[in-house]
Amino acid sequence: MLRVGMLTSGGDCQALNAAMRGVVKALVHSSDEPVEFYGFENGYQGMIYGKYRQLTGKDFQGILTRGGTMLGTSRTPFKLLDEPTPEGINKVEAMKDNYNKLGLDCLVMGGGNGSTKTANRLHEEGLNVIALPKTIDNDTWGTDMTFGFHSAIEIATKCIDDIHTTASSHGRVFVIEIMGHKVGWIPLYAGIAGGADVILLPEIPYDINNVIKVIEKRDQAGSRFTIVAVAEGAISIEEASLKRKHYKERIAARTSPSIAYDIAAEIINRTNREVRVAVPGHTQRGGAPCAYDRVFATQVGVEAARGILAGEYGFMVADKDRQIVRVPLDIVAGRLKTVDPACQLVQEAKLMGISFGDEGVEGAINPILRPRKEKPKK
Ligand code: F6P
Repeated sequence: MLRVGMLTSGGDCQALNAAMRGVVKALVHSSDEPVEFYGFENGYQGMIYGKYRQLTGKDFQGILTRGGTMLGTSRTPFKLLDEPTPEGINKVEAMKDNYNKLGLDCLVMGGGNGSTKTANRLHEEGLNVIALPKTIDNDTWGTDMTFGFHSAIEIATKCIDDIHTTASSHGRVFVIEIMGHKVGWIPLYAGIAGGADVILLPEIPYDINNVIKVIEKRDQAGSRFTIVAVAEGAISIEEASLKRKHYKERIAARTSPSIAYDIAAEIINRTNREVRVAVPGHTQRGGAPCAYDRVFATQVGVEAARGILAGEYGFMVADKDRQIVRVPLDIVAGRLKTVDPACQLVQEAKLMGISFGDEGVEGAINPILRPRKEKPKK
């Protein structure tokens, strides 16, 4: 008998259900011994509090196309892992206990960066863990792709497409805020796919003067509208000069709803243009997975099943040059895959005239992304 525990952790995304279905279908089809599946509810919280249910074949019917996660999810910050719960429960010990009580052979965890750190910790504590790379942000180290990313790009691109028609009718400037607090993969891809004139990313601090210049240049060329795609975590050159702590304080003290509104206000102040803001928000994480994500998530699930059948654990399934590979959890844990400002795609976009707002101020680094100084050991 094989016993497999499953959970989904962190922000949800499309194709989480497809990935779990991949694990289950491959195991049921290929295992010589019977397999039992246990789903922990609402991420690591279910594992901490012993909230789980046994899953049957029925649970996995019709879920390939369903967005969200049928197990529920939650954020369990890694940095608080060693702090007890409000009830005084030691989280790591509780997770180990519940794993052992169920007699699990393995835990399959669909999660992003922080969740994979916790998965690695559990693996270090002696549990058999396999991670599946989920997140719309595509910021997981060790994999070219995460599932959810392509679905999110489709939605963000559709938003930019739809805004294009109304922006051009009215001759307005639109600031469209796309998800990505620390990394800008979604705004980069959706911005290019949607034909944005300006793309502002957390990895490339911008000078607002450059944004204004694009708008004015387009005006002079007779283009009545401008589309600015801005990441949630886009940062001005001035903010980038702050210390991490001060930048965080600045963001915490923001009185506008978000960065898009700040940028829109600056454009209004500096030009005579009509400016509007559009924020697709969590729609980018919602709805059915696109075909690409369904296939990729299925492949990821099948690879996890192959690991379980072979008794091999302690890895995250990953995509490397369109091949499904395994990356040790300790290599992935705690690392972020950011957009390299010098990468081919950014350079190509610049060559065709898309502004990243950094003309003349290239090379500034977001304090959130600056490598932390090693603390001297006492
Ligand atoms: O991690 C995925 C993500 O959607 C980010 O792009 C976004 O910044 C964040 O989660 C939003 O978090 P929440 O769902 O907690 O508001």
